[in-house]
Amino acid sequence: MNDMLRSISTDFDRRAGALRRSVSNELRFVRGWFQAPLRTGAIAASGRALAKRMAAYVDPAIDGPVLELGPGTGNFTRALIKAGISEDRLWLVEANPDFARHLRQVFPRATLILGDAYQPQTWRDKCPAKPFTAIVSGLPLLTQPRDKRRSLISECLDLSRPGASFIQFTYRTAPPLPGGHGLTARPGPVTFYNLPPARIWLYSKTAKALPVASL
Ligand SMILES: C[S@@+](CC[C@H](N)C(=O)[O-])C[C@H]1O[C@@H](n2cnc3c(N)ncnc32)[C@H](O)[C@@H]1O
Repeated sequence: MNDMLRSISTDFDRRAGALRRSVSNELRFVRGWFQAPLRTGAIAASGRALAKRMAAYVDPAIDGPVLELGPGTGNFTRALIKAGISEDRLWLVEANPDFARHLRQVFPRATLILGDAYQPQTWRDKCPAKPFTAIVSGLPLLTQPRDKRRSLISECLDLSRPGASFIQFTYRTAPPLPGGHGLTARPGPVTFYNLPPARIWLYSKTAKALPVASL
């Protein structure tokens, strides 16, 4: 009987702890939005279903570091770790100092860079010599001019292994950046179980056509 009561009480404490953490993360996110709505890009963090789908595009069997841009309160980070990417393979670039402090506490083995993702020249020196396996982005891309979006995606893919994807989500029906100029854009699924529903887009470098051999 005592064992049963102890187990119920432990389970209750565990659930209460998880609920407290989740509420405090949501409050941190809302505060981030009030401080800088355009930079935060959403009033609530992405849901678990979207995070799981984003993470599923990163193959844990392919060795190498993974870059995450705009991790916020860490929902995609958590999903990546759950999907089998070890924490020490993660490089996180976050512009909000409050989110960055929180991420450093929760993911002490990941490399946290407090900085502007759109200026790779300011953070790429802190990145590993090895190319990235994939880039997962939670950035509100559409708040930036098209050229800036394009050069960010292109520069991140230049720091990655051949064939790597830049994984992005958007709340719009149109892609956050059309393909072209050396980039291929592929639509992924829509996650309806997210507020608001979101579509994933995958960007990669367009394969160069091989020269036709002359006879
Ligand atoms: C829409 S939230 C997404 C957060 C998280 N990935 C999620 O899905 O819940 C956008 C995140 O990008 C960060 N961010 C916005 N502009 C940034 C920039 N220029 N460099 C780095 N992070 C940026 C914000 O601070 C915020 O954490």
